[in-house]
Amino acid sequence: AVERTLSIVKPDGVQKNVIGEVYRRFEQAGLKIIAARMLNLSQAQAEGFYAVHKERPFFKDLVKYMSSGPVMVQVLEGENAVLKNRELMGATDPKKADKGTIRADFATSIEENVVHGSDSVDNAKIEIAYFFATADLCPRA
Ligand code: CMP
Repeated sequence: AVERTLSIVKPDGVQKNVIGEVYRRFEQAGLKIIAARMLNLSQAQAEGFYAVHKERPFFKDLVKYMSSGPVMVQVLEGENAVLKNRELMGATDPKKADKGTIRADFATSIEENVVHGSDSVDNAKIEIAYFFATADLCPRA
């Protein structure tokens, strides 16, 4: 089915200057970017986005890192978009990520791992709504 998913090029990805490289991989895989914006996440925005992780030991560091510099946030649309994006990203830990994935190629550590992607269609809806109004989305054939 055609799905939408929320993708973020994280502060380390923007800093490494690989936004275009990441977008190229999305487009090459048949995913369409139907909305995008660059912003500096406040600490409160980062906490809200990652609220599901608030009891995890890495939460405080994660919030600090995600608000340390600009991020590029986009909505991807396409057949099987949630899983397709996760396959392009590779495992959270770049040491475990398959060869040729974004994280294997560019990530520094399990925290500074270049990209975020929604893990389910339901979470994608929540995450997309966190950054975009319906009118911001530009779907097309
Ligand atoms: P992401 O897929 O955006 O979801 C949670 C983020 O927390 C993860 O990517 C990493 O950037 C970060 N993180 C840091 N340490 C860990 C860890 N031990 N396990 C999972 N995620 C971690």
